[in-house]
Amino acid sequence: CFPDFVKIVEVGPRDGLQNEKEMVPTEIKIQLIDMLSQTGLSVIEATSFVSSKWVVQMADHNEVLTGINKSPHVRYPVLTPNIQGFQAAVEAGAAEVAVFGSASETFSRKNINCSVEESMQRFEQVICAARQACIPVRGYVSCALGCPYEGQVHPAQVAKRLHELGCYEVSLGDTTGMGTAGSMAAMLRAVMAEVPIHALAVHCHDTYGQALANILTALQMGVSVVDSSVAGLGGCPYAEGASGNVSTEDVVYMLHGLGIQTGVDLAKVIEAGDFICRALKRPTNSKVSQATSRS
Ligand code: HMG
Ligand code: MG
Repeated sequence: CFPDFVKIVEVGPRDGLQNEKEMVPTEIKIQLIDMLSQTGLSVIEATSFVSSKWVVQMADHNEVLTGINKSPHVRYPVLTPNIQGFQAAVEAGAAEVAVFGSASETFSRKNINCSVEESMQRFEQVICAARQACIPVRGYVSCALGCPYEGQVHPAQVAKRLHELGCYEVSLGDTTGMGTAGSMAAMLRAVMAEVPIHALAVHCHDTYGQALANILTALQMGVSVVDSSVAGLGGCPYAEGASGNVSTEDVVYMLHGLGIQTGVDLAKVIEAGDFICRALKRPTNSKVSQATSRS
């Protein structure tokens, strides 16, 4: 039995663009977010307040966050790995942030240069400061369906910890897209024993072409929040070979086909996808967009 409504968290401007080798002009990022703000999406992850030595593509976070036309109907969370990033984000006007941990020790060190335990201490600081400022915090668990360095890892305890620390929603990331419907079901069963289902989201990269099947499995198990990226852009700079997130266009098409409401106008998302693909001089990864541009 499926949920009636699914909230889509658009991560294209952040996860989608963070891996681009050439600097994407700030105005293009702003225009992309402004176009996405007109599609009915209620959450658009806008940028990251991470070190520009680590991810240079997100170095224009202040300009992006202050340059967009914020719609009152949309929330614009930003990634904050530590208190320094949190403070910078708040100064730039962030009203929601996300911390990002990992189920894998090796990936944690490669991505945020600290152990899982150290990361939790940093997140606790961020969440405490956020609570005082009435800023909601989302949490990610990377490598939830496997780690490129360690293989199978167990995300349930990390997801539980983030939820207990105060993350209102925990997004389970299949960082390299290695998961299958079978591993998604098994992982969710374990996580659902620790975190209430209404506080869970899935974040599927589509490297192995399994993302829609994995999302469908999660929906059948009661998950009602799905992360996706316009035009299927994306990848993580610290997960070699990982390709883009599942495309927002394909997720919306599947959900509407199931009779599930999203509030999202598919045609407008396709337009935003066309815009960013033209700017990046690259074909879309969305099958739905490819199919509709042929017809
Ligand atoms: P570090 O080098 O260990 O940090 O990096 P440090 O505390 O030792 O400081 C070193 C320098 O970084 C100092 O500057 C700090 O000021 C600066 P210096 O004195 O050398 O000039 N610094 C910062 N600058 C800006 N913003 C900050 C910040 N913090 C310290 N917040 C750090 C630690 C976490 C900063 C670094 O490892 C980092 O930025 N990592 C981010 C990596 C990243 O963005 N990865 C991609 C996002 S995660 C993802 O894509 C997965 C996800 O999509 C889910 C999924 O798919 O699974 C979410
Ligand atoms: Mg990701």
